[in-house]
Amino acid sequence: MYSLSNSNSTMTHPNLFLVPHAVHRNDAVPSTLGLDLNIAALNIHRENMFLDDPEDFSITIVGDTLYSWAGTFEDMELSPEVIRALYLNMGYRRPSKIQAITLPMILTPPYKDLVAQAHNGTGKTTCFGLGMLGRIDPNLKAPQALCICPTRELAIQILELLQRMGMYTGIKIECAVPSLTANSTPVRDRAPVTAHIVIGTSGTVHKLMSYKKLGVSRLKVLVFDEADHMLAEDGFRDDSLRIKKEIDKFSPHCQVLLFSATFNEMITKFIPRVMKDHNKLFLKKEELSLEAVKQYKVYCADELTKIDVIMLIKTKIFELGANIGQRIIFVRSRNSAKMLHEELVGDGYSVTTIHGALSVEDRDKIVKEFKGGLTRVLISTDLLARGFDQQQVNCVVNYDLPIKRGTSEPDYELYLHRCGRAGRFWSKGSVFNLLCLDTDKLVMEKIEHYYNIQVPEVKISEQAFEGALKAAGLL
Ligand SMILES: Nc1ncnc2c1ncn2[C@@H]1O[C@H](COP(=O)(O)OP(=O)(O)O)[C@@H](O)[C@H]1O
Ligand SMILES: [Mg+2]
Repeated sequence: MYSLSNSNSTMTHPNLFLVPHAVHRNDAVPSTLGLDLNIAALNIHRENMFLDDPEDFSITIVGDTLYSWAGTFEDMELSPEVIRALYLNMGYRRPSKIQAITLPMILTPPYKDLVAQAHNGTGKTTCFGLGMLGRIDPNLKAPQALCICPTRELAIQILELLQRMGMYTGIKIECAVPSLTANSTPVRDRAPVTAHIVIGTSGTVHKLMSYKKLGVSRLKVLVFDEADHMLAEDGFRDDSLRIKKEIDKFSPHCQVLLFSATFNEMITKFIPRVMKDHNKLFLKKEELSLEAVKQYKVYCADELTKIDVIMLIKTKIFELGANIGQRIIFVRSRNSAKMLHEELVGDGYSVTTIHGALSVEDRDKIVKEFKGGLTRVLISTDLLARGFDQQQVNCVVNYDLPIKRGTSEPDYELYLHRCGRAGRFWSKGSVFNLLCLDTDKLVMEKIEHYYNIQVPEVKISEQAFEGALKAAGLL
């Protein structure tokens, strides 16, 4: 571990990490971690790549300086079983910046509350997942950590991630999402939850709590993933506050963690109402756009041209053998999802579609097929805009730009989250924004202005798209 020497309570990153690179490169790697795992034999490269990456240098930290930041997983209060899974199951080599800074805050006393903002795809979810695993006493068969997130898909994804990272620990994890079939056991008849960690959507979690099936008296950590949305008035604020109130009653010292890539001003002002004295990591909004993901705008004369552009992207990708993995096409509504699906399938384009009106069985199946690589192109509403993690996605198409419900104002946060579905963990990606109406152009301008970015135009021609994909590093 490396101590923070700065005694100011507000620090920017470059001041914070005055640690010579050589220290990291020559890190003494423990030869064994128990469990017969020979770390040295794994031939781990210790260059601390993320320190050279400008990506998160803009993180500002406000709060305690008593923590050390952890340059390796072994520096953290994680069990050998978890570290073993990180190296063997996950193929991780070192913590990302957000993990290096915040995991010591989560894993070591005094367990102060924390608001943590970092770019999409930089390991936030993984980070609090590790935090939860690290705080569990496996011998106590009761919920000790709870994570609330906005969608069923995200809850299942986090469950699967924790199961992989916690594989050797004996820690039990349960997902609290609406049940699959109407005739499954009603909540009041089910057994009380004994899992150590519960991941769920706010409605189901609240229901389990109100039937006293999910006891919170032993809870040590409460996490809100995509926290700005979980606390937004037009998001899940009511449920989140009810859950928090119940926990305050029975576990007043439970640590609260808020993680998201975006916290707009309104949410930032609201945070003190739900959190005590807390540590904070945040980014300036001008620094939020992902560098590794190249964004483009495509002016389309009419809606039919938008469909032509999607076909053009597909043709280019096949013809050029582009290094394109999977694609997500975002649309505004369930109806436009259905319409686009029919149009593309009618044109012989193989595509699957997900939105909230599908049955949960269908939703689960579509996500499973996409995650398994069986399908390559997915049309989605904003159901998957946040948190959805599929490393192979490196092209996002905004068929419709994200608009705040009932207005023609851009949804700035959603725009960023959609872009963040490509370029996971610093991999390269591209985003094509299809603009047709005058309002689309205005919305795009506002987005560019808000994030202080200039999104270049791509003309609708094969050469132009080839150039765009090249510039994005995908050819
Ligand atoms: N330390 C790490 N080393 C390598 N890959 C990582 C590490 N932490 C996270 N990842 C991977 O990066 C991707 C994005 O992580 P995630 O936690 O979903 O990011 P975020 O929540 O910030 O969007 C995931 O596929 C995850 O497995
Ligand atoms: Mg996440």
